This record gives sequence, C-alpha cells and structure tokens, in this order.
Amino acid sequence: MSDFTGQHILSVNQFDRASIERVFSVADTMQAYALRKKRTTVLDGAILGNLFFEPSTRTRVSFGTAFNLLGGEVRETTGMSNSALAKGESLYDTARVLSGYSDIIAMRHPASGSVTEFAQGSRVPVINGGDGANEHPTQALLDLYTIAKERAFHGSGIDGLHIAMIGDLKFGRTVHSLAKMLTLFKNVKFTLISPKELSMPSYICDSITNAGHELVISEQLEGLVEADICYQTRIQEERFTSQDEANKYRGKFRLNQQIYTQHFKSQTVIMHPLPRDSRAEANELDNDLNLHPNLAIFRQTDNGVLVRMALFALTLGVADKVADFDRPVHWFSNKSST
Ligand code: CP
Repeated sequence: MSDFTGQHILSVNQFDRASIERVFSVADTMQAYALRKKRTTVLDGAILGNLFFEPSTRTRVSFGTAFNLLGGEVRETTGMSNSALAKGESLYDTARVLSGYSDIIAMRHPASGSVTEFAQGSRVPVINGGDGANEHPTQALLDLYTIAKERAFHGSGIDGLHIAMIGDLKFGRTVHSLAKMLTLFKNVKFTLISPKELSMPSYICDSITNAGHELVISEQLEGLVEADICYQTRIQEERFTSQDEANKYRGKFRLNQQIYTQHFKSQTVIMHPLPRDSRAEANELDNDLNLHPNLAIFRQTDNGVLVRMALFALTLGVADKVADFDRPVHWFSNKSST
C-alpha cells in the first residue's frame, strides 16, 4: 500500500515493509500530541464513527482518543443491541447509512469477515478494530511498533527476532495478525505454545514456513531461553461454545516472576494484547510482574494511540499537515511516556 489516502484498513495482508515503516514514522511524530505537549486541529470538522459491536476497552477508547487528539469528533455505537443490526438490518445498509454521517469508521464485530463486508457498503474509509477470531490489524501494528521500540532499546531490529506466542493461538486474532505481519521480516523464529486444541491455524503456520522462517510448535513452556519476546494471550472464552469448554484451558499457561526467571533470559520482553484475565482460575499474567522493567503491556497500550493517530492521519490524507495546525496547551498535564 503506497498511498493510504481513502483506503480501508482491513487486514495485515495490505501491508508491506515500506508501508509499515511509513505508519511507524508518522506514529513517531504523534508522541508530543499524545503527551499533551501540544495540540493540533488538523482534523477539525471530521467525524469518526466508532462502531463496536463487541466489548472493548483499549481499541474503542484509543481510536476515539486518537481522533480527538487530531482535532476531530467521535460518534460511538456500542453493543449490537443498541443498533438496528438487532432488527435484522444488513451490514451493507448499516454501512451505507453510517458512512453518510462520518468521515471515517472504526469497527469491531464478532463475525470473521464482517468488517470487510461492511466496508463494501461504506462511502468512507473503514478500519478493522477486530472481526471475530480473524484479524486485528491495528493491534498488530501497535504490537510491532512496540517490538521495534523495545528492540531498538537493546540495539537490535525486528529481523532476527525470536518470538514466543503462548496461550489461545486458535481464536486469538491478535496473534494471527502479528504472526502474518512478522513474516515480512527476515529470519524470525516463532515458538508457538498452546494446548493442541488451541493451536495456530495451519494457514498461518504455512505462511511462516513458506516465508523461510523457523517454526517450533509445542504444548509445553520449553525452548524459550533465547526468546526476545514472550507474547502471552488470553483464552478467548467468548469464542467457545460453552464456559465449561473454556475452563479446560484457563490457567494452563500462567506467567509470573518465578516462571519468567525459570524459562526466559533477563532481557525477554513480556507482551500481551490485553485484557489479561486476572481471575484466580486464570491469572495468566501475574501482578508480581507489574513493576518489571521488561513488562511492555502498558507501553503497548500507549503506543496504540500513536499508531491509530498515524492511521487516521494517513487515511485522511493529512499526515504531512498535522504540525501546520499546532496549538499550544494552556492547562496542566503531567503525562509522560511509560
Ligand atoms: N487488545 C484489545 O483489543 O483490547 P480491547 O478488547 O479492550 O479493545
């Protein structure tokens, strides 16, 4: 994708290394706005339709925050029951209508392929905020942006990375999108650890090996001492047919200080797309790691604002004009980067 202007962002398949680097370089320029050091009104008058037909904290609020920080306004629809989809309206009709009210739309929906179907009826760019177990492309971009920053801190790049992905790799759309995006880089080693029933879809494993990367599949925490990134995931209970079935896997792969020290090198960065399931029966990422310097989970969430600001600026064609509309901040803010 050489020109983002007016484009939908539906899948990581749309990206090559150059377009990823373009997003990241624009995201870098957004830090001062995200930290409230200055304001911009470059999207003054623009409206984001923020449609979340499935629960969300980070993606929904960071899309809205990102749009506000660029000077635009946000209109939200949350929950299927608050929309006419509950009355049998089609995604096509919903898209035709809501794209008349908005200049860009971010959307999450529980069905795989739904956001692409919606985009076919939309008159404005649509950004996929997660479609069922399929994809979460903006999460992959913010994860990769985080990996790039963490690696740069240690003097490395993404090429040559060893990433361990752990947990529900079948239904976890964030690992699907991130794994696909990482295949664009060189010599990446993937160690995929999950119960057999929750293993990574074979088409993604094939894309890893077809691109010449090393792939190790295991049901145990093992072979991780050289891993640069430990990417932990939640059992996606909402995708199971019953809670009893999800309960079989809850808590199977926990990470706490003792397990981290036992299995990983001291520089391994701990990531998780969040939410982490902190209930006692799961406790997949223990609070005893909260102050660990390698715990990057809240750097990920902060980076989500930068990456989503970059995507809005690029798709609405203002990435090179943001600073032309700078305004001073008159109020007290003590925000700092995490
Ligand atoms: N990572 C993520 O998608 O979080 P939310 O479900 O809170 O949006």
